[in-house]
Amino acid sequence: MKKQVLIIGANSEIGYSCAEEYLKQGCELILAAHKPEELAPLEAKVIQVDVTNQAEALETLAEIDCDIVLYAAGKMVENDQALFSEAGQLVRDVNYNGAVAILGHFAEKFAKKEAGVIVGISSVAADRGKSSNVVYGSAKAGFDSFLAGLRQYLHSFGVRVLTVRPGYVSTKMTAGLDLPKKLTATKEQVARKIVKHSLSGSRNIVYVLPIWRPIMWTLKQIPERIFKRKKL
Ligand SMILES: NC(=O)c1ccc[n+]([C@@H]2O[C@H](COP(=O)([O-])OP(=O)(O)OC[C@H]3O[C@@H](n4cnc5c(N)ncnc54)[C@H](OP(=O)(O)O)[C@@H]3O)[C@@H](O)[C@H]2O)c1
Repeated sequence: MKKQVLIIGANSEIGYSCAEEYLKQGCELILAAHKPEELAPLEAKVIQVDVTNQAEALETLAEIDCDIVLYAAGKMVENDQALFSEAGQLVRDVNYNGAVAILGHFAEKFAKKEAGVIVGISSVAADRGKSSNVVYGSAKAGFDSFLAGLRQYLHSFGVRVLTVRPGYVSTKMTAGLDLPKKLTATKEQVARKIVKHSLSGSRNIVYVLPIWRPIMWTLKQIPERIFKRKKL
């Protein structure tokens, strides 16, 4: 039987690359995008879902059944804008509130049928709050913690929750940023890891480029009294 995969935020460059990779692996796709008219054609069912309109999103998703659900929607704006203007609301809504509402809905569905895999694209930013992305980082930290709680909650139902922390990825979200090459993955690399670890295996947390794991571990060891003086 072909695996059915639902991708939320399929307009995302990473999400779309995952769609291409899942197709290569013989999966059937449902792409949920808030601007479906902007999606390049792909062999998939396409639905319109705006993750900031949760009531409508849940109504649209009510009848959708799948084996894997991937949450790939995300929003990042300039740190100052996120902190001091209403743009921060969108960052919180897309990265956290929408994710919790939609994945919570699938958690209940998957628990009932005692099967399924939930995949969330978190971020290394979730590992420690930093001055360069105060709101985005905190929304991802909340999302990451939600995924961890959900993993424990769903374990006894045989449902797996996979947290993906990509590190830097060159996509339209990071366009214009000067990203260090050694720490930057391609969207295809991210997609291959997501597809591989969601289709099989028992991984809980995946750092796409393994170098990010020791980097973030080290950052987490720095005492707050020293960390607060750093510009990161
Ligand atoms: N790029 C990186 O360095 C990086 C690193 C770590 C984690 N991530 C995470 O990876 C995921 C994918 O990001 P990406 O790099 O592929 O960037 P991206 O291409 O900008 O993808 C983000 C997608 O979310 C969609 N979105 C925004 N508001 C939405 C809404 N209300 N409803 C539904 N979808 C909405 C955006 O659609 P529009 O384009 O139409 O606005 C966009 O397609 C995000 O969760 C991001 O936080 C990215």
